[in-house]
Amino acid sequence: MNDKKLIFSGIQPTGTFTLGNYIGAVRNWGPLQDEYNCIYCVVDMHAITVRQDPVKLRQNSLNSYALLMACGVDPQKSILFIQSHVKTHAELSWILGCNTQFGELSRMTQFKDKSQKHADDVNSGLFTYPVLMAADILAYNADLVPVGVDQKQHLELARNIAQRFNQRYGDFFTLPEPYIPEVGAKVMSLQEPTKKMSKSDENPNACILILDDKDTIIRKFKRAVTDSDTEVCYREGKDGINNLMTIYSIVTGKDFAAIESEFAGRGYGDFKLAVGEAVADHLEPVRTEFDRLSKDKAYLKQCYTEGAEKALRYSQRIISKVYRKVGFVDKT
Ligand code: TYM
Repeated sequence: MNDKKLIFSGIQPTGTFTLGNYIGAVRNWGPLQDEYNCIYCVVDMHAITVRQDPVKLRQNSLNSYALLMACGVDPQKSILFIQSHVKTHAELSWILGCNTQFGELSRMTQFKDKSQKHADDVNSGLFTYPVLMAADILAYNADLVPVGVDQKQHLELARNIAQRFNQRYGDFFTLPEPYIPEVGAKVMSLQEPTKKMSKSDENPNACILILDDKDTIIRKFKRAVTDSDTEVCYREGKDGINNLMTIYSIVTGKDFAAIESEFAGRGYGDFKLAVGEAVADHLEPVRTEFDRLSKDKAYLKQCYTEGAEKALRYSQRIISKVYRKVGFVDKT
């Protein structure tokens, strides 16, 4: 590769991404390809920390792969692959796990949330999930990791693990920096705007899926929870409106002042409809491209096979050095 900085990021294969995934992370992945060397991954191994139907997981992973391409990731410019195709992630994860404290993992808020939600299956993979995430990043010695705000704690842990390894075995890993967008790093639920928008929300109106059709998107925005005020303006305490203004600003490129004057005296109904239409129009090309790509199974297969080969080659070099550093006997 050249001397550009290296970006790594991943997304769980939920089949279709939420507007939160899109705005907080994936939408930025395409444009970053021009400035950085980029490695992106569908993290199917992370997904099985909660129970998955195998048939659906396989389909969702393929759909997520195609959807990343439809959102602008170009497998000719980036390395785009499926995590379970590249064995180095699991290998490095073991070594990093031996350099991670039980206490550190116990403090992860996502673990606490998920173990409450899946109380009948608090498996050790759910607990060590952030170690595998650290391995994803460190297996490439990535400089920057574009994510939404909810992944910040995991990223701090990845830095701490890298730092500890460096202290024990001598400087080796780059300490990865989070790359969090200034606007849209936490898209909120449309029904409970103090909570993050998430696909696992039980209320389907809380969450926009980027493959939702135009009518569905508009209907969900029309039902968005706001407040008893009538003025469209960005202000503390107006969580619902602030969230809609953020979304509208991102899909139209208008700043908050322009949005406030556009909707001055017009009320929330008009505003919600405009946000719904703007989001649906913005996502239309993604849906069209996804439909086209997902039919071309042979092309997709070629892309993810080549992606995995490149990722393996790259990370293998790093893992071999890690094995030497920790004192494993050379195989050849
Ligand atoms: P995941 O699959 O939950 O989410 C993928 C990306 O979407 C962002 N995101 C959001 N951003 C703004 N508002 C929201 N409501 C919202 N919901 C999700 C997430 O911050 C994330 O950037 N553990 C990771 C996947 C992962 C990873 C990695 C990421 C595995 N290995 C290595 C970076 C580097 C996860 O579960 O993301």
